[in-house]
Amino acid sequence: MAKKTLKDLPPLQGKRVLVRVDFNVAHDPKTGAIVNDRRIRAAVPTLKYLTDAGARVIVMSHFGRPEGDPAKDAIYRLDRIAARLQELLGVRVRKVDEVVGPGVTAAVETLLPGGVLVLENLRFHPGEKKNDAYFAQCLADLGDIYVNEAFGTCHNAKDASMIALPQAMAAAGKPRVIGFLVEKELAILDQLLSAPPRPLVGVLGGAKVSDKIKFIESLLAKVDRLLIGGAMTYTFLKAQGGGVGNSRFEHDQLDVAGRLLESGKIVLPTDHVVADRPEASAATQVVEGPIPDGWLGVDIGPKTIEQYRRAIAEAGTVVWNGPMGWFELEPFSHGTRAVAEALAASKAVTIVGGGETAEAVEAFGVADRIKHVSTGGGAFLNYVESGRLPALDQIEDRKTP
Ligand code: ADP
Ligand code: 3PG
Ligand code: MG
Repeated sequence: MAKKTLKDLPPLQGKRVLVRVDFNVAHDPKTGAIVNDRRIRAAVPTLKYLTDAGARVIVMSHFGRPEGDPAKDAIYRLDRIAARLQELLGVRVRKVDEVVGPGVTAAVETLLPGGVLVLENLRFHPGEKKNDAYFAQCLADLGDIYVNEAFGTCHNAKDASMIALPQAMAAAGKPRVIGFLVEKELAILDQLLSAPPRPLVGVLGGAKVSDKIKFIESLLAKVDRLLIGGAMTYTFLKAQGGGVGNSRFEHDQLDVAGRLLESGKIVLPTDHVVADRPEASAATQVVEGPIPDGWLGVDIGPKTIEQYRRAIAEAGTVVWNGPMGWFELEPFSHGTRAVAEALAASKAVTIVGGGETAEAVEAFGVADRIKHVSTGGGAFLNYVESGRLPALDQIEDRKTP
């Protein structure tokens, strides 16, 4: 069912609009400095639309997983993020140091039409992760309208700002809509799920089979071929009885991997970059066939790159999740880079999702040439798996005439 969007709202002049965004940006874990601001950039069109329409915009987000004590977790305050938002929006952005309370209420009261106020990290309040109804009511009292623009958080079923807050708004008869980013994410994923130009090629890598079993199962039901890379390769190879040397694989997933292979759609790498130890300075070689003892797989090999490049070039739609190797280390990044470039060069509808995968695509400078790079990790995987997300159930349906 289509959801109501910003365009379905009554005139916004002077209205207090609560916008839940996902500004949980990639950051330096020691200092909190922003490493990649794409989740902030992605919300700018919605925020600009609202300020241009004369709304009083209240921005809410979580950042990281703080324990709840702002003094201890000062790096997770939203000051830096609010400053970055101000640069991107080009209008003054105010920031308060609390999530709710008299100081916040006063700041909202003095917020002028077209103004933007950022609340403190929602996860500094113990009510956020408990889906607490009282906390949600305090947030609801600050606004006249609720906008969900936090695609990356839509899979969380117990975050008060995603669930209990829109429920409190509903109880008061206040509108609940999605923003432009969520609308765009859903449109492309709905196309992927319902009517993808064929052949539909999935590219799947990353850390573990166990993280993604349901995702792999639903992909297999839809794709024509599923190209495998990354660390999960070795679990599949082992399940086939192949030698994986010292590569890490998941003993407890061998049965699952064997069952998935029965689909006949899974394509495994035919050659591998292997290293003699898990370090960038390791000795490496390319091997075809079994991986020798004493060596571990760290990337797909050049023949596999060629084969995957061709499959991607011939596809009508490509959906990619999970790096092809240990791409954070330059010597092991070639497979991931080649796949990123193959997507960028392809005429297919190209879709990328997943935290690390999106970072890789940005790092290699090809994000602009890919049709859609999702801002979701878990949310992307969950939506592809099930076609629904708990937070979206709280948004009003658009009634078709
Ligand atoms: P995403 O966040 O895009 O869904 P994952 O979280 O599943 O992706 O996996 C990403 C991680 O997997 C990366 O940090 C990458 O270094 C790691 N990885 C992929 N292949 C290998 C490999 N062969 N050896 C070690 N790490 C790997
Ligand atoms: C994400 O990055 O996946 C979202 O921002 C949700 O964050 P969380 O995994 O800490 O709930
Ligand atoms: Mg990840």
